[in-house]
Amino acid sequence: MAAEELDIEEPSCLHMVSAFLAMEPPDVVISFAREYGGGSVTENVQSCIWHRCISEADLKWQGPYLKRFLKKFIHEIESSGGLVMDELYEEYASYMSSLQDHDARDSRVLKTISFLFPDVSSGSISYPRSKLEVRLQCSVNMLEGDTGLLNEWYWWNYDFQQVGSGVGLVGICLSYVKASKVILTDGDFSTLANMKVNLELNHLITGNHKLDNLIDSNMVNCVCLPWESASEEDLRRFAPDIILGADVIYDPSCLPHLVRVLAILLKHHPSRAEGNKLDTSQGNETSNVSRDDLLRHPSAKGPIAYIASVIRNIDTFNYFLKLAEEANLIVTDLTEKVQVSNFLPYLRSYQRCSIRIFRIQL
Ligand SMILES: C[S@@+](CC[C@H](N)C(=O)[O-])C[C@H]1O[C@@H](n2cnc3c(N)ncnc32)[C@H](O)[C@@H]1O
Repeated sequence: MAAEELDIEEPSCLHMVSAFLAMEPPDVVISFAREYGGGSVTENVQSCIWHRCISEADLKWQGPYLKRFLKKFIHEIESSGGLVMDELYEEYASYMSSLQDHDARDSRVLKTISFLFPDVSSGSISYPRSKLEVRLQCSVNMLEGDTGLLNEWYWWNYDFQQVGSGVGLVGICLSYVKASKVILTDGDFSTLANMKVNLELNHLITGNHKLDNLIDSNMVNCVCLPWESASEEDLRRFAPDIILGADVIYDPSCLPHLVRVLAILLKHHPSRAEGNKLDTSQGNETSNVSRDDLLRHPSAKGPIAYIASVIRNIDTFNYFLKLAEEANLIVTDLTEKVQVSNFLPYLRSYQRCSIRIFRIQL
């Protein structure tokens, strides 16, 4: 059967394909394949994997992953007594002869992260309707620290700045949801160069690395911003409405600098003088938490920061909280409200229960 005849909008199929494109471990993809096939990897499922994943793959970036995947996939089908498609055997044989065995854990790969937007038209959130696919050049073991907030609210009227942006995933998503200005910052030049490659891979125009060029709202601006050396004068020029940070609380020696940067960005914003630009009245009816709950502390005004963090070392995290308190920042844990567990359901290889999301305000 041709892949076109399958119901490729079926959630388990979307999850299977999305997991493959995100280079999830083969066992994860195979478990979705079994689910899609009603308990076994049928010929239809194989055909879908072949057409939607393997025949489209780019050997340069996905070769070692494909080889590992096919080995496990073929073994799974054979050991449960199924028939393996000829194309899968042939492809695996060609990789066996052309690809050297090597440990790919440290090499760079091209992953595709698919954001599956739920269909809320029927009144209940159930079925993935449309998707945004983000292509990222990154290390094999990249853990996405995205806040997950972008799926749930509409952000078109806000200026964003991210600190410690890494691969640039958040910036790409923000452009998609039509943020009015996006500034991605990182302290590492090679990370910034890779970030620009990723923005271009996703057809976004990127600004240069200079602070002078921050006013262009048609592009995603990439700026070098090491927290240690960022001056107050430089930081005041960003004036973002919303500051984002993902997986930036891990090195105790950087934390005093990170907290200083956050405090300055939160303090110096035109809204503090002019009244508040952030309108909290556009609540999303499908969400179980109003936008007002998330956006601000009732007594606070001005910009807001959101930090998503994997708490690997509780002492490091408590040190961050202590520094934040000393800088008079209000830190609120939003993890229960934003339901991280529902986010990117096909990524099963990372522990989302260890991700916490915090709102930070003055
Ligand atoms: C663990 S990565 C997270 C990247 C990205 N936010 C994500 O979630 O995928 C931490 C990022 O913070 C940046 N970073 C670490 N220390 C920094 C500092 N002192 N100044 C500026 N950026 C820093 C690193 O270069 C890196 O890109």
